[in-house]
Amino acid sequence: DDFEKGTYPYYMLKEIDEQPAVMRKLLLKYQDENNNLTVDQAIVDAMLESDRVYIIAAGTSYNGGLVGKELIEKMTHIPTEVHVSSEFGYNTPILSEKPFFIFLSQSGETADSRQVLVKTNALGHPSLTVTNVAGSTLSRESNFTLLLNAGPEIAVASTKAYTAQIAVLAILSEVIGIEKGLINKGTMLHDIGIAANAIQAIIDDKEKIESLASDYLSTSRNAFYIGRGMDYHVALEAALKLKEISYIQTEGFAAGELKHGTIALIEEDTPVIALVTEKRVAGHTRGNLQETKARGAHAMVISMEGLDRPEDQIVIPHVNPLLSALVSVIPTQLLAYYCSLHRGNDVDKPRNLAKSVTVE
Ligand code: G6P
Repeated sequence: DDFEKGTYPYYMLKEIDEQPAVMRKLLLKYQDENNNLTVDQAIVDAMLESDRVYIIAAGTSYNGGLVGKELIEKMTHIPTEVHVSSEFGYNTPILSEKPFFIFLSQSGETADSRQVLVKTNALGHPSLTVTNVAGSTLSRESNFTLLLNAGPEIAVASTKAYTAQIAVLAILSEVIGIEKGLINKGTMLHDIGIAANAIQAIIDDKEKIESLASDYLSTSRNAFYIGRGMDYHVALEAALKLKEISYIQTEGFAAGELKHGTIALIEEDTPVIALVTEKRVAGHTRGNLQETKARGAHAMVISMEGLDRPEDQIVIPHVNPLLSALVSVIPTQLLAYYCSLHRGNDVDKPRNLAKSVTVE
């Protein structure tokens, strides 16, 4: 009955709601009999052999890859690059001596990504596909597969696949970090569980986000998400989600870069939503938001407990900062959902978009 909408008006809301359960299922799946996180040793060995990881993906999966890069580099110290598959295919960068490719794809069928895989296979480079679909083309044609186990994702706008990709890459990174002796004792089993609870807490309070969507986004023609570091990566995904289903022209921006040109677009009442989950940059991002407010922006803050201020509109529970994206993205998914709903759009089937794009 995974395919059934049940009492949900749209698959997207159902899939947003499923995310805590998806996290818990992943933790069970990637756990050994001693309750340690584990992945296929052959994948670990292949990654340990490599001198650089190349993440290849499109759309929301690309945004997941940006978060994945942070996780891989911080936990494994293996340099990692993230590439849009349609660019990589034609404009291949100079590769390292021992590259390891990770294909991120919900469907496992995206033609742009497959085109890269055909090329890397021809060059004899090892590859891992992280996908939601067992037996998909990318899974079959790469050396290794890690499954998202998120259940079918029907809504065109991807939600649970994004968070599942991040969780799987966090698990993989921790296992490798431990193997390399960089991490003493793993905490991801615990921390992803905490993140699942945090996601649940946000979902339980969704009426509040519905009313913020009305307040901020009901009539606007454009909007901005800003953040730094991990928050910037989430800003890109948040903006993509809002664009896809509400048709509001939204940009995700590095908070510090806004003043170098794009701030010219801020007018009276332009919604600017800042993500503030990282301590070392929190003050800077708030400063950048202030600059937009001084120019009339309708400013909203999504902050993490511990960094929150009384005036913040949304405060997410505290989680391991490496996993902040898992949690901070949830209010942005809900904002996009309610905005699309209020505008009378077909939330699950936005115009001009397909769930899986099998042409280049
Ligand atoms: C399509 C979908 C996007 C998705 C992208 C990549 O454009 O509309 O939601 O992110 O493909 O799909 P994949 O299955 O490779 O993750």
